[in-house]
Amino acid sequence: MPDHIDFNRVQERSAPGSTNGASRRDDIFDKTHAFTRADEAMALGVYPYFKPISGQGTGTVVVDGREMIITGSNDYLGLTQDPRLQEAASAVFDRYGTSCTGSRFLTGTLELHEELERRLAGFMGAEAVLTFSTGFLGALSVISALAGRQDILYFDRENHACLYDGARLSFGTLRKYRHNDLEDLERLLEKDAGKPGGRMIVTDGVFSMSGHVADLPGIVELARTYGARVAVDDAHATGVLGASGRGTPEHFGLQGEIDLVIGTFSKSFASVGGFVAGPEPVVKYVKHHARPFIFTAALPAMQVAATLKALDIMETEPQHREKLLANAERLRGGLGGLGYDTLGSETPIVPVVIGPDDLTVIFWKALWEGGVFTTPALPPGVPQNQSLIRTSVNATHTTQQVDALIEVFSRVGRDLGVIG
Ligand SMILES: Cc1ncc(COP(=O)(O)O)c(C=O)c1O
Repeated sequence: MPDHIDFNRVQERSAPGSTNGASRRDDIFDKTHAFTRADEAMALGVYPYFKPISGQGTGTVVVDGREMIITGSNDYLGLTQDPRLQEAASAVFDRYGTSCTGSRFLTGTLELHEELERRLAGFMGAEAVLTFSTGFLGALSVISALAGRQDILYFDRENHACLYDGARLSFGTLRKYRHNDLEDLERLLEKDAGKPGGRMIVTDGVFSMSGHVADLPGIVELARTYGARVAVDDAHATGVLGASGRGTPEHFGLQGEIDLVIGTFSKSFASVGGFVAGPEPVVKYVKHHARPFIFTAALPAMQVAATLKALDIMETEPQHREKLLANAERLRGGLGGLGYDTLGSETPIVPVVIGPDDLTVIFWKALWEGGVFTTPALPPGVPQNQSLIRTSVNATHTTQQVDALIEVFSRVGRDLGVIG
């Protein structure tokens, strides 16, 4: 085993063919030659990423001709295999073909986009909704369009990368507070109290790696005190949390209190795309200013139709969410009962903390050999020495599949001395 597996680290050594000394001009490709960690892991048979799937079943995938139980996908309601979504997508295929080929701004807006925006605004209890080609682009669009030169963004340190990249693309100032630590957030808000510019507190509703839920009631209170807006990226909560699946605002009884909800169609909606729900003037502003919205092709009709069908199902069939939550509780209880640290998750994302990177990769490999398709989360995706296996279940996992997952985690954990 290598002493340390870090797929993002670039080794500090000369690239092939390079010469030492000041006369040598730097080549922008040098870093690519120096990046050897992925090859090393592949040579050792412990490279866990980009595993090609050749088929999908309920709770399973086929890889290299072998059927494996999948854990860690975001198909929370299990709708990717629902024939009604597939029929809805193929019905519009005949009308609109394979692509919009143009930006929403120019030739790419379909009546279907507007129908989805109206329907989602109703579902989210918002004045308006704008949809995007991915959730990532939605977050980039909202944050970069809104945060101007004097504005200050307050980010939970563990926010998703799309929010961070939105801040980098904006002209605003970024302040990071410790994860879910509202005292730290207040300290920062207080420090900036006399400064000009608007403020926005930005947080994941459910954090994608830990499964933690943001303390929205506390955030809303601080926002009121310090005159800040609140934006919540609810990618992992829409369709999942709240009495009717409307996400973390509903979970906390705060519907109508959150200024902006950013979402995705690539998880519970079993499609692709993203959205922002909020006040009409804000949505209109983003629509006319956000470069990652204006300068990219519109969401294809098939994805819009599948999303609309998923929304119908979310609104009328609570049994999928109920089954998801029951499966998640079984998985959480099972893994926690074995002695794993699951970071106190309360959601269908159940992290299993292994700790050191190398052990986590070995653990992943043993799970893989045991017929479990999953992936490890290593730094910088998680803090140092907090590497983990991100598990989650879907509404379509059977109880037997959940139990089989727990059984493999039990065996592997004991074999590797992670649990007693
Ligand atoms: C919290 C969060 N926000 C946004 C996204 C981006 O969503 P999309 O897949 O639609 O680009 C993700 C996806 O991983 C996510 O976890």
